[in-house]
Amino acid sequence: MKTAHWALPAVVIAGLVAAGCATAPREIQPVTANDLAIMKASFQEKGQAKLDRLDQDEAQKLCSHPPSVRIPAEVSARIEKNNMATIKYPADGKLMGDWKAGEVIAQRGVGKQFSDDPKTPSGGNCYACHQLSKNEISFGTIGPSLYNFGKLRGGPTPEMQRYAYGRIYNSQAFSACSNMPRFGHNDILTEQQIKDVTALLLDPNSPVNQ
Ligand code: HEC
Repeated sequence: MKTAHWALPAVVIAGLVAAGCATAPREIQPVTANDLAIMKASFQEKGQAKLDRLDQDEAQKLCSHPPSVRIPAEVSARIEKNNMATIKYPADGKLMGDWKAGEVIAQRGVGKQFSDDPKTPSGGNCYACHQLSKNEISFGTIGPSLYNFGKLRGGPTPEMQRYAYGRIYNSQAFSACSNMPRFGHNDILTEQQIKDVTALLLDPNSPVNQ
């Protein structure tokens, strides 16, 4: 009787559909102190990887939910506004550094692990999630392709430099539950490194725009 469940009376199906539509999105369930204690008990501190990495800020708490939970628009807007306020633009006003140094940073996946020396500069690991140049054939696709980013966005205008620098510094300022690491906000990359990667994205001579 393979087809039995398709034989449900239309009125029942209509009822089920209506019930499905009427179900409100589930509430965001914050991580409780007990959840956190269980997680902390399952990890050990090692090297620079301390257990405080499990402490979530507001954005992380609000974004740690199953995909079935929808974040209300005003909550997303609040996350973006608060993250925007964390972005520190360089005091010298120069947002673009050396694209060649930026390419090394984009290729480098080292840093912040317990086995890494905290004194060695971290990489940005951009290729793990993005295509950036046509020469590099190995790249991830979690993020959109950034090949020709500068060309497609009208070149290194002051506005585009500000956007690229800000996006790398704190992606959650632009998309509330972004999966991109907050490189400046979480001290992964230094100011100079963010300048260098901004140049990689926007400099007309960089391989991104060839
Ligand atoms: C863990 C994956 C991940 C890594 C690593 C990552 N990104 Fe992203 N990035 C994303 C995702 C996903 C998006 C899409 C938008 C969103 O969700 O925020 C994005 C968006 C962007 C955007 C905006 C693109 C647009 O169309 O406006 C830029 C610029 C960017 N990333 C640059 C970088 C750079 C530079 C690096 C390295 C320093 C980097 N990303 C590392 C995941 C990542």
